[in-house]
Amino acid sequence: MSSELSQPFSIGGLSIPNRVVLAPMAGITNSAYRRHLKRHGVGLVVTEMVSAYGLIYANRRTEEYLDFAEEERPVAVQLFGDEPEVMGRAARLVLEREPRPDLIDLNLGCPVRKVTRGGAGCALGADAVRAAAVTAAVVGAASPRGVPVTAKIRSGLTPEQPNAVELARRLEDAGVAAVAVHPRAATQFYRGRADHELTARVVEALSVPVIASGDVYSWEIARTILAECGADAVMAARGALGNPWLIGELLEGRTFERPSLAVAVRDLLELLELARGQFGPERATRWLRKHLTWYLQPYPVPGTVVHELRKCPDDKALVEALESLPGTYGSQAV
Ligand SMILES: Cc1cc2nc3c(=O)[nH]c(=O)nc-3n(C[C@H](O)[C@H](O)[C@H](O)COP(=O)(O)O)c2cc1C
Repeated sequence: MSSELSQPFSIGGLSIPNRVVLAPMAGITNSAYRRHLKRHGVGLVVTEMVSAYGLIYANRRTEEYLDFAEEERPVAVQLFGDEPEVMGRAARLVLEREPRPDLIDLNLGCPVRKVTRGGAGCALGADAVRAAAVTAAVVGAASPRGVPVTAKIRSGLTPEQPNAVELARRLEDAGVAAVAVHPRAATQFYRGRADHELTARVVEALSVPVIASGDVYSWEIARTILAECGADAVMAARGALGNPWLIGELLEGRTFERPSLAVAVRDLLELLELARGQFGPERATRWLRKHLTWYLQPYPVPGTVVHELRKCPDDKALVEALESLPGTYGSQAV
């Protein structure tokens, strides 16, 4: 069985094998996580947001965000920044590297103060004219290299003043090849329901593909969102945390039961293995902590046990403790 989301589509001439995109998530969508979700079937992955200034000042941590593996392709690098000149330079730096990513995505929606106080993220999205100038600079750097540029926007700064339609139009005029819409205002952060009626208005206004982001928690919900807004693709974000099987559900177009605890633990161990390869055992064990809660929450594993797992100091102890879970709790109903 397959859903309409399993069909390929194209962004600026780049072929994407299906219409399920892994949303950029700071602190989460590193290369290990992206490869893991790729194995679960996502068609396109996006890095965590990368600071344009960090790249220009050759910050080592910032440059680390650009690393990706061939198996991730097609892969987008998401940039944030404020000034056209700075963003154009950052895009050139990204595209001079080998391997070169397939897309550059512009962050016009991040509501975190650290980003917005410098005029980037949603602060840039709120100023459609400056956002278009930034986009034109990045498109100017990317198009000679044949790399399409996309943008990710919110509904606006506040629910009372949505500017997504005007912004998206200007971005298209400035040369973006697709727009992802997260139809919550910046002041809402991640609260409340995403308003995909607004996504529908963006779809109507643009001729480039639109990707719907917000509340994609199941096939049932995704189907409703697609019917409501007519987007070309959907983005999985919080719905995929602890539930990478969401991707298969979206591609197949049917609701999945949660897998057994043994399968969930095996999947978590695969994620740990990928993270170990990227970060080494210590950092990987620390990074995995939040995933323990997300993965184990639906199962009858007591909260105190999850709490203890999160305190595991090293990867070997964690692997051993995780492997023992199915024997202890696996036969209990979810
Ligand atoms: C922890 C976290 C980190 C995020 N980081 C980014 C980011 O770096 N760039 C971005 O454009 N969006 C970011 N987002 C927003 C998501 O990409 C997505 O648009 C949003 O979560 C709405 O989808 P959802 O309701 O399905 O979670 C982040 C969201 C979360 C929960």
